[in-house]
Amino acid sequence: MRLSTFTAAAAALAATATYGASSACSPDTFTPPSILGVEFIGITANEEHSFTRVSLPPGTLDGATYTVDFCNITATYTHRGWNDTINVNVWLPLKGWNERLWALGGGGYSSSFGSLYLTQAVGKGYVAIATDSGHSASLQTAESLDWALSSPGNLDLELVEDWGYRAFGELATIGKNITEDFYAQLPTYSYFSGCSGGGRQAMMIAQRFPADYDGILAVAPAVNIQKFLPAAYWAQQVMGDHGVYPSPCEVDAFTAEAVSACDGLDGLVDGIVSTPSLCNFTAHSVVGKEFTCNGTTCRLSPAGATVVQAVWTGPSSPSGDISSPGLSLDASLTTTYILTTCLSNGTCSASNSDLVSSWIGTFVAKDPSFTLSGTTDEEFFDYLRISQRDFASSFAAADDDFSAFRKAGGRLLSWQGLADETIPKVNSEYYDKVLHVDPQVQDYYRFFEAPGVGHCEGGAGPLPNGAFDQLIAWVENSTVPEVLHAGSGNSSRPLCPYPSVQTFTGHTLSGGPSFKCMPASIGL
Ligand SMILES: *[C@@H]1O[C@H](CO)[C@@H](O)[C@H](O)[C@H]1NC(C)=O
Ligand SMILES: *[C@@H]1O[C@H](CO)[C@@H](O)[C@H](O)[C@H]1NC(C)=O
Ligand SMILES: *[C@@H]1O[C@H](CO)[C@@H](O)[C@H](O)[C@H]1NC(C)=O
Ligand SMILES: *[C@@H]1O[C@H](CO)[C@@H](O)[C@H](O)[C@H]1NC(C)=O
Ligand SMILES: *[C@@H]1O[C@H](CO)[C@@H](O)[C@H](O)[C@H]1NC(C)=O
Ligand SMILES: *[C@@H]1O[C@H](CO)[C@@H](O)[C@H](O)[C@H]1NC(C)=O
Ligand SMILES: *[C@@H]1O[C@H](CO)[C@@H](O)[C@H](O)[C@H]1NC(C)=O
Ligand SMILES: *[C@@H]1O[C@H](CO)[C@@H](O)[C@H](O)[C@H]1NC(C)=O
Repeated sequence: MRLSTFTAAAAALAATATYGASSACSPDTFTPPSILGVEFIGITANEEHSFTRVSLPPGTLDGATYTVDFCNITATYTHRGWNDTINVNVWLPLKGWNERLWALGGGGYSSSFGSLYLTQAVGKGYVAIATDSGHSASLQTAESLDWALSSPGNLDLELVEDWGYRAFGELATIGKNITEDFYAQLPTYSYFSGCSGGGRQAMMIAQRFPADYDGILAVAPAVNIQKFLPAAYWAQQVMGDHGVYPSPCEVDAFTAEAVSACDGLDGLVDGIVSTPSLCNFTAHSVVGKEFTCNGTTCRLSPAGATVVQAVWTGPSSPSGDISSPGLSLDASLTTTYILTTCLSNGTCSASNSDLVSSWIGTFVAKDPSFTLSGTTDEEFFDYLRISQRDFASSFAAADDDFSAFRKAGGRLLSWQGLADETIPKVNSEYYDKVLHVDPQVQDYYRFFEAPGVGHCEGGAGPLPNGAFDQLIAWVENSTVPEVLHAGSGNSSRPLCPYPSVQTFTGHTLSGGPSFKCMPASIGL
């Protein structure tokens, strides 16, 4: 297990700390908090010993096997008059509590990923907490929206509100109360971290429950999910309009051409497009070029170019009233957006992304048997408008006013990979608005772009695996994250606080590239 020196030092400190001895891991130890409108319907408490899982923090590839001993609390509640059942998990380390609480989000349509995220937190000495927000919570069910309809034609409005924001406010209150019941002491510091859908939870908490956590890490947050998620269907829409289904090889070949055209614009050829704003590449400019697919030489087609360019540009209605940004040129297009399957004779057809197609079927048509095939462009843009109109208030997490969070003294770190293959560049646009409302926002909320990094992790660029440790140092030690440290050795790079940009400054004596952060207008 990889522990930063800081976390290791903190754990050592905690081992000698003088917090009260823990109480029995039994339901009788816990009296759940009173929250207006909330009724507790059950609490279970069991000691788990030598619980072993592979686990990692959200937004890292820092996975390892952890073996932990903890008191496993599940507090179950409903909202009076609603027919929902919400489970909050609280995992209390049986020894070596570091006096901190770490709440973990989920991803996709799931509000938590259970042991995948919680185990490592307990292993590092934290009380780890999570909520299922009223429906099945796991990585396996993250693309399912089955829970969101109570019957065909009818949204389960209660679960929609629970998933949108409500359950996240109750989580901290419950988790802190249970922690205090057990250790006779509140956590000294409380944190939340999540990626993607979990990043959206993080942003929602900063905006609506600003005093709940001392520090929040929002990785690739799905802000304005009600807009970009249905808009991600645009590639399938364009393929249907034109009756063309480019093979994954052809789509990836367009991406490779774009990367080779724009990679070097920052002065360094490394497979990463770190300055997308300088790149004027279009898919149509390489039509006719050769690529190989399963040993056969083919040529990039005009129809393929149309589909690929549609994703890079993003949809925009003819009247311009609704639009969504495109993906970056070095993002994989064949993971979520342009999905086709091919027969061995080379004939390809559309395939589906549950994540994308279930949104319109569930939230707009409210019909589990709804199919998008045959949708006209006019209907497509209507779907986007309806999604925006009906769900922005519950889902967007895009308030631009952070004054309550600032007053509460919180710290918010956020980053997104520039090669994100699922969420387009919504976060820099959003941060521009926040910066406009409070030009001093960097004092308490910083956003970083990670060149070459994919959705939550992956991609050619180095990952800021230590972002959570930097958040802790910011909260507890006032060590401002001037840059986020990404990668290691000679592939390590500073991630720059937006709007400054990572700029290649030449090679070091040992031959590795070096970088610094430059204002956007000066940076290459
Ligand atoms: C948790 O909340 C309940 C109900 O308000 C209260 O009785 C209990 O004392 C709280 N626990 C702690 C440790 O404050
Ligand atoms: C924790 O307790 C709940 C409720 O009893 C149970 O469903 C779950 O499997 C337990 N978790 C672990 C990791 O043992
Ligand atoms: C309440 O939810 C349960 C499933 O959780 C369902 O079986 C039941 O029909 C619901 N009752 C009402 C009144 O909606
Ligand atoms: C793109 O930029 C390159 C160099 O910066 C320039 O030579 C080329 O003409 C530009 N192409 C277009 C379509 O603007
Ligand atoms: C490939 O096979 C499918 C199914 O057998 C057939 O419909 C299609 O016409 C074939 N395509 C080519 C190019 O032969
Ligand atoms: C290439 O071969 C693989 C494995 O046989 C197959 O799954 C894929 O569909 C083929 N791709 C194309 C474009 O024919
Ligand atoms: C906290 O600040 C002290 C003094 O500046 C420094 O030595 C230490 O490394 C810092 N710890 C962390 C975790 O940033
Ligand atoms: C990284 O550094 C090592 C030794 O310092 C060197 O051998 C290697 O080529 C470097 N790799 C890159 C990508 O610069």
